[in-house]
Amino acid sequence: MPDYKDRIADLKKRQNAVILAHYYQDAEIQSVADWIGDSLQLASKAQESHADVILIAGVRFMAETAKLLNPHKIVLAPTLDASCSLVEQSPPEEYQRFISDHPDHEVVSYINSSLEVKAMSDIVCTSSNAEDIIRRIPKERSILFGPDKNLGRWLAERTGRNIITWNGQCDVHDAFDAVQISRAKELDPTAVVLAHPECAKSVLGVSDVIGSTSQLLRYVAEHSQGRFIVATEVGILIEMQRAAPTANLTPAPPKHITECACSECPHMKRNTLDLVYQALESLQPRIDIEQGLLERARAPILRMFAEQ
Ligand code: 13P
Ligand code: SF4
Repeated sequence: MPDYKDRIADLKKRQNAVILAHYYQDAEIQSVADWIGDSLQLASKAQESHADVILIAGVRFMAETAKLLNPHKIVLAPTLDASCSLVEQSPPEEYQRFISDHPDHEVVSYINSSLEVKAMSDIVCTSSNAEDIIRRIPKERSILFGPDKNLGRWLAERTGRNIITWNGQCDVHDAFDAVQISRAKELDPTAVVLAHPECAKSVLGVSDVIGSTSQLLRYVAEHSQGRFIVATEVGILIEMQRAAPTANLTPAPPKHITECACSECPHMKRNTLDLVYQALESLQPRIDIEQGLLERARAPILRMFAEQ
């Protein structure tokens, strides 16, 4: 196998490129990244970047967000096929009908959505800032939230707001199972169950700490002697273990236990070092967005940053 790491390092210099990777990328890809973060951190880093070329090792909506924030830069994705179940479950025409059926609502859309869905939204949020964004909406204003029903329901419970929610789910987080997690906890009673709010209500009900990827990571770093059962994509365990070398980390079991009992996002795992190398060398595939769509999809993201 070619030594991709050295070659990627050379290409980064030659192209004045930066690699931003999501926590759910595998260890090899994380090792060539200049920055690793959650959705909000990747968007912020893309916004601050001085590089000419930004490669997003994550899924397509993350690369699209980087392009919205850097319309004049080259934004690359190792593959354009890395989608997201939430994007796939929210076809723009149906989402538009959902909005039209509920006039006079504030439309809050999760960053895990297509450009078209963003373009028809008033504001975008990530799991790290969703609660703050909802709390800032005037009390008298009704709210529509999509595409993640689990996150929407959790936000409604947290904030006491009446939120009408689109019926989508992350297939990875929705696959964790409360019964299996409770059994794992019985076998390890001091373990703290950490869960992402994209998990089902029953899973959040047996969890001790609920938060976005970076919030869960921070919790582990602050409790470095702890034992944890982690109900989110298994890639985050790499950064958790780096932040807390003495912590004991176990991936939460999904409904259908696989050999490693770990949950991997198949979209995130489409990226490989080979594809990263090829993208940096050829400066393809690029994210290109038609100007009108770009402006409409960018507005709710800029509002998200303005309201943080
Ligand atoms: P965060 O990165 O905001 O925690 O979201 C998790 C996720 O599923 C990203 O696709
Ligand atoms: Fe989408 Fe879920 Fe994969 Fe995140 S983990 S990219 S929400 S399918």
